[in-house]
Amino acid sequence: MEKLLVGLKRLEYRGYDSAGFAMDDDDDDDEDEEGRKKRNAKKVIIVCREVGKIANLEALARKELFGEDDDDENDANNNNNNNKASSKSNNSSNGRKKSSSSIKPLDFCASIAHTRWATHGPPNKINTHPHTSDSRENEFVVVHNGIITNHAPLRAMLERRGMKFETDTDTEVIPKLCKFLSDKFEESGEKDVTFRQLAMEVTRQLQGAYALVFKSTKYPGELVAAKRGSPLLMGISDDSGEVSCVIDGNLSDGAEEDVLLKKASGNKKRKSMTGGAAAAAAADADTTTTPTTRITTTTTTTNNPKVEFYFASDASAMVEHTKRVLVLEDDDVCHCHDGTYKIYKVEKQKHPHPGYTSGHDSPEYGLYKPVVLSKEVERTIETLEMEVESIMKGEFDHFMQKEIFEQPEAISSTMRGRLVLDVLGAAERVMLGGMSQFAATIRRSRRIILCGCGTSYNSAIAIRQLFEELTELPVTLELASDVLDRRCPFFRDDTCIFISQSGETADTLKALEYAKAKGALCVGIVNTVGSAISRATDCGVHINAGAEIGVASTKAYTCQIVAMVLVALSLSEDSRSKHTRRDDIMQGLLKLPGCVKECLKMDAILLELAQELKEEHSLLIFGRGFNYATALEGALKVKEVALVHSEGILAGEMKHGPLALVDKHMPIIVVCTNDGSYEKQQSVVQQLKARDGRLILIVSDDDTEMEKTAPDAVILRVPKVEDCLQAVVNIVPLQLLSYHLTVLRGHNCDQPRNLAKSVTVE
Ligand code: UD1
Ligand code: BG6
Repeated sequence: MEKLLVGLKRLEYRGYDSAGFAMDDDDDDDEDEEGRKKRNAKKVIIVCREVGKIANLEALARKELFGEDDDDENDANNNNNNNKASSKSNNSSNGRKKSSSSIKPLDFCASIAHTRWATHGPPNKINTHPHTSDSRENEFVVVHNGIITNHAPLRAMLERRGMKFETDTDTEVIPKLCKFLSDKFEESGEKDVTFRQLAMEVTRQLQGAYALVFKSTKYPGELVAAKRGSPLLMGISDDSGEVSCVIDGNLSDGAEEDVLLKKASGNKKRKSMTGGAAAAAAADADTTTTPTTRITTTTTTTNNPKVEFYFASDASAMVEHTKRVLVLEDDDVCHCHDGTYKIYKVEKQKHPHPGYTSGHDSPEYGLYKPVVLSKEVERTIETLEMEVESIMKGEFDHFMQKEIFEQPEAISSTMRGRLVLDVLGAAERVMLGGMSQFAATIRRSRRIILCGCGTSYNSAIAIRQLFEELTELPVTLELASDVLDRRCPFFRDDTCIFISQSGETADTLKALEYAKAKGALCVGIVNTVGSAISRATDCGVHINAGAEIGVASTKAYTCQIVAMVLVALSLSEDSRSKHTRRDDIMQGLLKLPGCVKECLKMDAILLELAQELKEEHSLLIFGRGFNYATALEGALKVKEVALVHSEGILAGEMKHGPLALVDKHMPIIVVCTNDGSYEKQQSVVQQLKARDGRLILIVSDDDTEMEKTAPDAVILRVPKVEDCLQAVVNIVPLQLLSYHLTVLRGHNCDQPRNLAKSVTVE
């Protein structure tokens, strides 16, 4: 348990709202492993879950499992409904409380743990991982990082077959499928199905992204880990610090099998050891960061009998125990048992969406034989060269920097399961589960009001034009605090869209309550599942950007825009006249993560520019049309973290005041990528140049005109995307610039002076 809790604590920096673990307990304290096996007695799995900090989970576990609290009896009897999951875990550990000193070391111990950032159902105990096939028996328990996009049809199928679901999560279908298929295999006489085969049959049914670790009373002492789309590392340690399994030799399958069998038959040696001879811990976080630690390769092979395996989505969870890791690849399934492990690669299925439940060989149609083909593969063990502290932020120095670089993956998460592809991989349509019931009402609205604070308000500015174009409704923008100050006239036939990363901003929440009181339909665009705004709105879209820790919002901004593009597309799906435009945007969305990735390659150029600008006291940013928001958001970033005065200006307003500020000392950024505003921006650049302005131009990568217009300007080239998506790409160089300016000026970018991540007071 200590190892699991320490692993979870190491993942705290990623942000989470709840945590849990599952581990073995013996049903008979006085019986050793051998005796238990002879009796064919099942191990009991204890599951413990808690909302909030890891310290809460630890306190609960100490109380419930070890009775380290005087009030434990009362508490154990007083579990209320909200405490359901943990009361279940009480049941599984009932009568088994023991003092830490009386605990007998297990010979084989396989445990799993997880920190959750809710994407699927609010953060409460019931929704916290590990999820189980049945919370009384805990026969199959699973932790999952990622999103299962076809959980709804799977759940419906399993419910039709009599399975009872207990949580709101997408993950719960996984242990339920384990149980369902395992029972069916047994009924069909397939009694020798291994844990690995079972897990492969289960993952075959899943669409979406996952890093999974499975544990079961049916397969005691074993763990299976599987991955597709979400990061998963495996760590290997033993008491000599050497690797104890054959992993990287050039052995044929058969030879490797032999060595592994020999090792397995050396159980005696392992069993004589104390402290859990073969322990496997899995810790996992419900976020999608890919650790990008530098690694070197080793191929050590020894015969040390004491070995521990770790699985985690992030090296920080295991680095205290081992620096020897291997990176699992998509469709890898790793099986740990009897002190050994093997990795198998699932062979690609013939049809494009493996596991779709309507397929002829799906459980729906009663095929209860393992069908997945796989072959054993080798993965190289590498040695992490980093210490815990640096691994927490990956290769990054600050969370702000990390979150800027996470944007390609975060944008993909926002679109996952919502931008539906055809068999050729082209975007076909948009599916927003949470909005579909309300789409007709929104289309009939008199107007749409977009409302938020700070960066979230800027994302509303970025999307306004597309909303107007695709919905053909009047779209107005409101700063949340201003709604309250002005007591805005809102009506029953208005649709108010509230945008918020945290979902807790007091002004936005109050404006939402005000709009509700006026009878308007309230929609949320929110990152934090279970937050006040997400709960109080009639419907909405979670942007699924993952936890954002840096106070300056970066990835939430770009993901909010993407989520709202999806909303605009779904509201206009019936419009024939907009078919071509909608199609162009959808295909553009598919390319967007790649274009943002391209932009991130400009990092060194932006560092150089920041060095040039670091002593400046003021910076102006001009934008218009789709990129007025880029100017405002870029300026907000510079002022809030670099503590440099900066103004984002609508370029059309230049002559009405701002031009007076322009001289040869004033650095001015002009966003002039190639869209409908291009010619007007060219004229803006000419006028600024005529007044000797120090120009920095953000232009499309194929632009040849702007450098002719302003030969002395610093030119920043960004990939050209569909005009309404360009703001997502254009903000990236400005985020990088503000980040580097902050660091060079010696300020704290993650916690800037006087600012808070979540402003929960008016
Ligand atoms: C849901 C799952 C998602 C899964 C997808 C696949 C949740 C939280 N999300 O996503 O993990 O991939 O199904 O089918 O279960 N809502 C509000 N206000 C808000 C935001 C959301 O009321 O501010 C509501 C929505 O209307 C919806 C629910 O919360 O009823 C979940 O929203 P969202 O996660 O965006 O829905 P899906 O995209 O369907
Ligand atoms: C604060 C944050 O000001 O609140 C900003 O520092 C954020 O980064 C703003 O944009 C609004 O927060 P939210 O959570 O409602 O998007």
